Amino acid sequence: MQSHSAEAPPVIRLDGVGKTFRMPDGSAFEAVRAVSLDVARGDIVGLIGKSGAGKSTLLRLINLLERPDTGRVHVAGRELTRLSKRDLMGARQSIGMIFQQFNLLQNATVADNVAFPLRIHGRHRGAEIDARVRECLDVVGLADKASSYPAQLSGGQKQRVAIARALAPNPQVLLCDEPTSALDTETTRAVLATLADINRRFGVSIVIVTHELSVVQAICRRVAIVEDGRIAEEFEVREATGAERLTLLGRELDRLVRRKAREARIEAEEAAEEERRAAAASPVPAEAASSRPAVPNEIRHA
Ligand SMILES: Nc1ncnc2c1ncn2[C@@H]1O[C@H](COP(=O)(O)OP(=O)(O)OP(=O)(O)O)[C@@H](O)[C@H]1O
Ligand SMILES: [Mg+2]
Repeated sequence: MQSHSAEAPPVIRLDGVGKTFRMPDGSAFEAVRAVSLDVARGDIVGLIGKSGAGKSTLLRLINLLERPDTGRVHVAGRELTRLSKRDLMGARQSIGMIFQQFNLLQNATVADNVAFPLRIHGRHRGAEIDARVRECLDVVGLADKASSYPAQLSGGQKQRVAIARALAPNPQVLLCDEPTSALDTETTRAVLATLADINRRFGVSIVIVTHELSVVQAICRRVAIVEDGRIAEEFEVREATGAERLTLLGRELDRLVRRKAREARIEAEEAAEEERRAAAASPVPAEAASSRPAVPNEIRHA
């Protein structure tokens, strides 16, 4: 965990959670095996691993969409595994979820989709709901699409509606299952930027399941590698830790992070060089240019 949050209680704590599925032939399949995981408040954590590793099951154990057979789940200071059905419904208000296939209501407008989680709880008045819907659509940059229907939107826009819907009840945690796997590279970048913005502005903690290392590299501060229902290793996503990785995916991720950091440095050097060249070619001496205000005071105060 990050040092500044070392003493603060984690926003999510999984304590030895396990999930076994009964197969049609009567045999048992252990999809998640005694996993313990802490997520610090305000963190963005990636769960990555091969298909069938147990990533989605693990994510769904966090909001008890799957009920664990063993272990305890704490979210935002409450032990979900001890709550009654009714209390669990309330506690889930602090956990938003978004999916690969968006899961929007096709026959409802964008505004009604975003209002949905507020309406089912019946605690909010109409005007309050409308204001919150506008606010959330603003955050994801879709205020102008409030009256559209999902079928009229692009994939990226649909996912941003799903993000606005998840955000509406003011969650502390956002769980994302392959949120960009149905999207192209450009749209993926935009959706990840929206998630990062929500994390920064509102301090919402994010857990994101993905099979794309580039998603982890782009947005996550920590990563857990899931293999056969276990967390094989867990580390901070940053350059040059020098640490030995236990998994192939861990090593691949380190290589990608290093390559991206190198590319960013080269780009910054090129931009600086470009600026120097432009300044050298400029007819105004650099000193005179910098001492002169960009806009005359009388205009600025007009
Ligand atoms: N409801 C279920 N009943 C039986 N088996 C299940 C059930 N849900 C998941 N599994 C099994 O548990 C294992 C983990 O599934 P899970 O969906 O968590 O994998 P995943 O890592 O998310 O994979 P993917 O990357 O393909 O989405 C798989 O072998 C899957 O077949
Ligand atoms: Mg999955």
